[in-house]
Amino acid sequence: EMDMKVEELLSKMTLEEKIGQLNQYTARWEMTGPAPTGSSEQELLEEIKSGQVGSMLNVTGAEATLKAQKLAVENTRLGIPLIFGYDVIHGYKTIFPIPLATASSWDPSAAELSAHIAAVEAAASGLHWTFAPMVDISRDARWGRVMEGAGEDPYLGAKMAAAQVRGFQGDDLSADNTIAACAKHFAAYGFAEAGRDYNTVEISEYTLQNMVLPPFKAAVEAGVATLMNSFNVIGGLPSTANPHLLRDILKGEWDFDGFVVSDWNSIGEIKNHGVAPDLKEAARLAIIAGSDMDMEGYSYVPFLKELVDEGLVDEALIDDAARRVLRIKFELGLFDDPYKYSKLDEQGLVLNEEHLQAAREVARKSIVLLKNENNLLPLKKEGQKIAVIGDLADDKDSPIGSWRAQAIAGSAVSLLEGIENAVADQNAVAFERGPVYVSNEPEFTKHLQINHTDPTGIDQAVELAQKMDVVVLALGENCFQSGEGRSQTDIGLKGYQQQLLEAVYEVNKNVVVVLMNGRPLVIDWMAEKVPAIVEAWHLGSEAGNAIADVLFGDYNPAGKLTVSFPRSVGQCPIYYNHFSTARADDTGTVFWSHYTDESNDPLFPFGYGLSYTTFEYSNLKLSASEISADQTLKVRVEVKNTGTVDGEEVVQLYVHDLYGSIARPVKELKGFEKIFLKAGESKTVEFELTADDLAFFGADRSWKAEPGDFNLWVGTNSQMGLKGAFKLK
Ligand code: IFM
Repeated sequence: EMDMKVEELLSKMTLEEKIGQLNQYTARWEMTGPAPTGSSEQELLEEIKSGQVGSMLNVTGAEATLKAQKLAVENTRLGIPLIFGYDVIHGYKTIFPIPLATASSWDPSAAELSAHIAAVEAAASGLHWTFAPMVDISRDARWGRVMEGAGEDPYLGAKMAAAQVRGFQGDDLSADNTIAACAKHFAAYGFAEAGRDYNTVEISEYTLQNMVLPPFKAAVEAGVATLMNSFNVIGGLPSTANPHLLRDILKGEWDFDGFVVSDWNSIGEIKNHGVAPDLKEAARLAIIAGSDMDMEGYSYVPFLKELVDEGLVDEALIDDAARRVLRIKFELGLFDDPYKYSKLDEQGLVLNEEHLQAAREVARKSIVLLKNENNLLPLKKEGQKIAVIGDLADDKDSPIGSWRAQAIAGSAVSLLEGIENAVADQNAVAFERGPVYVSNEPEFTKHLQINHTDPTGIDQAVELAQKMDVVVLALGENCFQSGEGRSQTDIGLKGYQQQLLEAVYEVNKNVVVVLMNGRPLVIDWMAEKVPAIVEAWHLGSEAGNAIADVLFGDYNPAGKLTVSFPRSVGQCPIYYNHFSTARADDTGTVFWSHYTDESNDPLFPFGYGLSYTTFEYSNLKLSASEISADQTLKVRVEVKNTGTVDGEEVVQLYVHDLYGSIARPVKELKGFEKIFLKAGESKTVEFELTADDLAFFGADRSWKAEPGDFNLWVGTNSQMGLKGAFKLK
């Protein structure tokens, strides 16, 4: 029925009107303010009114979206509503942890909840569509956008991608509390050479299929409405002009019936890549490849009609693209009421107590306990004098992180506030900021100012540390050191942070470092010396309260890393699911695959994270030693909480396909389950494996499991586990 409505509308449309649906512009004036006067604003106004605009981004709020929508609906010949998109990445106004943090919960329901609440708030603010989830796999901590994805593993990445799509979209796009999602960036944006944003990507079809595409496929299977192109080239071909990706795989094999939006001017950038001589040719390549909507590229409206008239683009391609866009507009209910999302209870639904509570819950699930010697943690709420040190400790803005949508600047609960809220006696807590960096710069240059150019403050911090029983020292990155365009060659502690750490440690060994960051950091000295390290990422609106929940033991941390932490930046890219190489063993000579100045191992591996209790694994049992392609292998293991407090554990299943038509990773995650165990309690966890789970894209360029021998591990992280073996017939 929906399809008939789309066809009926399409049949009434002129070619120009169809092309208008494929055009997306950013807001050029404050819609809630006075009418625009500048010529570029006037131009946009006229283009909207004449049906040359199908979508806008960066128009937010019920009032602004209502005004913009009226321009289209009341003035264009067919009254087709605009679709409003926005980067709602980890919350709209109530901010949840950055996606890399949420992934560390290994709890898809947490990712789903975060996306759901973001959708409720965004929809109530007149929005229809978010440019999320970012499902790019990345292995390189130098890349600033690792903060926005789920980490280095395609299996976990697929689970998190699907969860976020469910969270944003629910099962009915026309509902008041859902918005359309957008899996991005298609594809391989996270494989930028040397971790430099927007850099060239050079990967094989094998890596593309086995490592990059699974989360996109999972998003499509979860019903994602849209995808976004990536900026990069693969093998020299810009993704925006890549018919193999968009037509063969996405719209062919996967049968995707939503639409593809370009990234910001990525059609224009086909020209910058040197793959089109001019914008017209870029437009031709993009529409033929299957990029349906042009975001800020100014290429479809000026050139598509001409290209059709000249016989260089088949009009059927325009119909197909317009059909896809219109279908999503119908599904959103925009043809029933184009203003429906601008008429909800924005006040009541955005940033309310319930949403903040959910943000706190997801935030504490996202924390990873990296080290805890001699049970320094949890801290005591009484009878322990706590020094809180570091300029990130009273920073109310950095926990909001990058990609913050409509967050109110400086609105997060700081670590210091969280600690003060938790302790019984305020006099037991004292704060010293230490060296400060200038941070009152605008967002897009702020990261350049982080130099800690002045060591002033170290002495006072040391003086305080000396007097107190324990030090909570906040270190890491502020909110704009990671994120888009924030690639770095040095991912260690910046400025005077290392000096501060060493000086404080010198006078008080009871140091708990709370890390705030959007990427893995090189923290080798800290990891060796300091007794306790809490990885707290950028946790959003309720950051300080969530961290305090963990510091004082009100919540037993259970997060696990989804990215390997390098020992040295020279190890990047470093990831657990690598090939063995032919020379993996130390031969006692130099002729094996290694560094002469550093080990191959990460500082903290994928899947790693501690708890305030301990878990023991035993009784690994496989239901068979051999399975055929149509059988299911059951893998059982017993997990016991051997400590004195209740806790959760993420039980992880890895396999190694010993040989294949192409090299196989030394380990691959194939299952995980987060379980809760009371102190002393045991549970049996059961996983099921089928040939489908073992399938990969092999030498014959198809997906299938190849018969042979497999090793298997079930354990607490990617480096430790009980080992088993089986054969696939
Ligand atoms: O959604 C983003 C994308 O991730 C990077 N370029 C701009 C887009 C719209 O803001």
